[in-house]
Amino acid sequence: MKDEGVCASSVSAVLLDGKSLGLRIEGELAERVTSLKSLGIEPHLAVVLAGNDPASHVYVRNKERACERTGIRSTLIDLPENVSQEELMQVVADLNADDTVHGILVQSPTPAGTNELEITEAIDPTKDVDGFHPMNLGRLVMGQSDGLLPCTPAGVMAMIADAKIDLIGAKAVVIGRSRIVGMPLALLLAQKGIDATVTIAHSRTQDAAKICREADLIVAAIGRPATVMADWIKPGATVIDVGINRVVDESRDSGSRLAGDVDPAAAEIAGYITPVPGGVGPMTIAMLMSNTVRAAEMSLE
Ligand code: GUN
Repeated sequence: MKDEGVCASSVSAVLLDGKSLGLRIEGELAERVTSLKSLGIEPHLAVVLAGNDPASHVYVRNKERACERTGIRSTLIDLPENVSQEELMQVVADLNADDTVHGILVQSPTPAGTNELEITEAIDPTKDVDGFHPMNLGRLVMGQSDGLLPCTPAGVMAMIADAKIDLIGAKAVVIGRSRIVGMPLALLLAQKGIDATVTIAHSRTQDAAKICREADLIVAAIGRPATVMADWIKPGATVIDVGINRVVDESRDSGSRLAGDVDPAAAEIAGYITPVPGGVGPMTIAMLMSNTVRAAEMSLE
């Protein structure tokens, strides 16, 4: 049931506010950070940023700010665009060996000519705060969701749980099959205790609109603006928009704005919907902080 109205005239859906939930989660994490510090452990995230991708620089700055809010120590390893695979692998090996570092994140995309999968596999799985290491993804396949989970899927699940949206027996469609979002999220939605019936749609899916129209939950993780249209949505369905697309908007001073993968008109049909920005994005960062605190706590076990 909806319990909070939202007053913008054409929006009938309840907005799932990831910004405020993310800040609330970070507040709880800050208390765990204080406890760890009293035991002599300072949770420490190392972020490796290679190259000049402007969006990556923005994401990394947002991660550093979240570390400041939660009391987590952060170290940025800033590398040039022409860094070699060997140099990146050495940086990861050094961070693996550094006992003061609890979490390692190599910002994606890494520069052309480097092998991101090899780098992911080189990260110590107990420091893999992105949750992308095959051991952590493999645990998820085995039904063990108590480890380091990929941050965006974990953030989506936290938003659904916070809004008390019941998915038992519900039809869920995840659009996108990436190892970062779509595939792990499909596993989390289908896990025992959540119990959704999950369809994974992708670029070769025939008639995604028809599949979506039957869904109680749609997660759009496509990476193309306004792909999921309002008439794809069953009235009252939950719509989670993972897209963060920069689109031209000449009415803005900057000349651009962020847009999700879902047409904004969907908010007139959906029961719950995540805004872009302020929905899944801040939750991803809160889950990164959560994984870093968890990795620091696990270092004590
Ligand atoms: N680039 C965009 N999102 C992410 C993320 O969640 N983790 C990493 N490592 N790189 C990203």
